[in-house]
Formats: sequence, C-alpha cells, structure tokens
Amino acid sequence: MNERVVICRCEDITEEEVLDAIRDGAISMEELKRVLRVGMGPCQGRTCGSLIRALLARELGVPVHSIKEWSRRPPLKPVPAGAFFQGEES
Ligand code: FES
Repeated sequence: MNERVVICRCEDITEEEVLDAIRDGAISMEELKRVLRVGMGPCQGRTCGSLIRALLARELGVPVHSIKEWSRRPPLKPVPAGAFFQGEES
C-alpha cells in the first residue's frame, strides 16, 4: 500500500514530491521553496520547515545543521504596531 504522506499541509505537498525534487537536483531549502512552494503557505514554513530540512539532510547525506534554513519574510497578515512594543507604556 502506498501512503500519501503530506509534508507541507498549507501547500498540500507530499514527501514523495519533495524527494522527487531533491532527486531532480534541488540541494537547498530555497530551491525546494521555489520549485514546490513549500514554506510559502499561511504558516510560512513553521509547520513543514523542520521536516523538509531533515528530509533534505537525509537525502544529501549531510548533518541537518549544515542545511541552511530558508529566509524569513515579514508577517503575512498586518499586525498592530503595538504588538512590537509590548511592555512599553508612555
Ligand atoms: S505547512 Fe508548509 S507552509 Fe505551512
């Protein structure tokens, strides 16, 4: 039985799709992001990032810490400016 293991729930990307991209030559988190859109969903990769990083490290045969995480982007939703200044009152 072939199970469909979803790695990135936001973009509905399976483990097999990630592995195919790596076999096709992707060697970094940024490349996987560009090819598959993993990490570009509403959670911005907070859910799938570590799983994809571990898969990439395993497939490349390198330690996980040697795989550079993808670059962080500003929050997807606007947040009130006050959220950045908690605890400071004037
Ligand atoms: S689970 Fe991958 S971007 Fe949210």
